[in-house]
Amino acid sequence: MDYYIIKGGKKLKGEVKISGAKNAALPIIVASLLTDGETELHNVPNLKDILTIIKVIEYLGAETEFNTEKNILKIKINKIKKSEIPYDLVKTMRASVYVMGPMLARLGFADVSLPGGCAIGERPIDIHLAGFESLGAEIGIERGYVIAKAKKLKGTHFIMRNVSVGATINIMMAAVMAEGETILENCAMEPDVVDLANFLIKMGAHIEGAGSERIVIHGVKKLNPVSYAIMPDRIEAGTYLLAGAISRGEIKIFNCVSEHLAAVCSALEEIGFRIEQGKDWVHILPGKIYRGIYIKTLPYPGFPTDLQAPMMALMATLPGISVVNETIFENRFTHVGELRRMGALIETEGNMAIIHGVKRLLAAPVMMSDLRAGASLVLAALAAKGITEIRRIYHADRGYEKLSEKLSSLGADIKREKGGVY
Ligand code: EPZ
Repeated sequence: MDYYIIKGGKKLKGEVKISGAKNAALPIIVASLLTDGETELHNVPNLKDILTIIKVIEYLGAETEFNTEKNILKIKINKIKKSEIPYDLVKTMRASVYVMGPMLARLGFADVSLPGGCAIGERPIDIHLAGFESLGAEIGIERGYVIAKAKKLKGTHFIMRNVSVGATINIMMAAVMAEGETILENCAMEPDVVDLANFLIKMGAHIEGAGSERIVIHGVKKLNPVSYAIMPDRIEAGTYLLAGAISRGEIKIFNCVSEHLAAVCSALEEIGFRIEQGKDWVHILPGKIYRGIYIKTLPYPGFPTDLQAPMMALMATLPGISVVNETIFENRFTHVGELRRMGALIETEGNMAIIHGVKRLLAAPVMMSDLRAGASLVLAALAAKGITEIRRIYHADRGYEKLSEKLSSLGADIKREKGGVY
């Protein structure tokens, strides 16, 4: 299996193009199941998770053609041939449960393996299921599978007990073809939800309020295949801004939506970095004095949990004390032990982490435990003294397109090597 060798200490400099958003592309690819005919998606990132979701829709009967050079994915649906998604597909990627919404909408039946817990927490899907029930589906659990049935989904008024990106997405996909009006409250306001809603609207759905806490959907009988460009990935964008910060370099990211990066940019400014920005670009520049900060992860527009681990790597290099309060997932500190191996001084207590900045992180052999924890190790290695070897980089392949190529183009000393002992 591949691993990274990173020689730290280079100040990154240059421009980097941000890829399409993984977490918007996943549901949009699945939403193509809502119509027959050919959907054409642009700006689709060539990532492991995207290849997995393509396998899932192919399993259900879709024909696909992915031009990974041009990032164009063509999806042709004639008929959904299966109504069941086996454990093998769901265990590879939790987002496979997104097929439930479209399957219920089109077939009135879905038999999908329940995902188990994962590296960052238990991650139940009870809110997705409660939403389907509210739309009139009957839900049963058998052999570890969710069996959902509905003769006809009917419009409803559903209040989510907790803000959930996945539940908002899944219930929205089920409701677009339900009979009558559906009102969803306490919705996730993440840009990924808005991108999916814009795609569905282009297909002919009637959706208002995506991006706010209240989404109103008027069910339509039929949707049509369309061509659509996926929005830029705000988490990848934030990761490159943090790479610029941790190397005390100067990076301009482009092909991004700066509005989506407001929380991370204001955190970077509070630390002492200079930020310049336009509508679709952000430039991070070194400041004069840096200080530790307090970060609390929150649903959008708050500070994203997906940037908590990369931000913690930066905090480990700041003067003074920084504090992280992780409020979204119960087990999202698996990077802490690895960062400590690199000389970081971090104490944790429940969902709080206290980080005492050190003058210099030190290279060490480390291992990725999940995608964003993996990104934090890459950032730490960019700043560390010496040569860091990072294993299990398949986690990073799930969510960062051409990571080593992009970092190399910014001047990082990073090599992807083959083989090695695990
Ligand atoms: C999405 O996960 C993202 N994944 C995650 O990104 C991201 O960290 C997360 O949203 C939060 O922003 C995708 O978009 C594919 P949630 P999701 O439902 O939808 C609880 C990455 O690294 N909850 O908003 O699964 C849940 O346990 C990934 O790219 C329930 O209790 O997150 C969590 O504590 C990792 N019941 C909280 O809500 C439910 O039915 C928020 O989870 C659903 C969620």
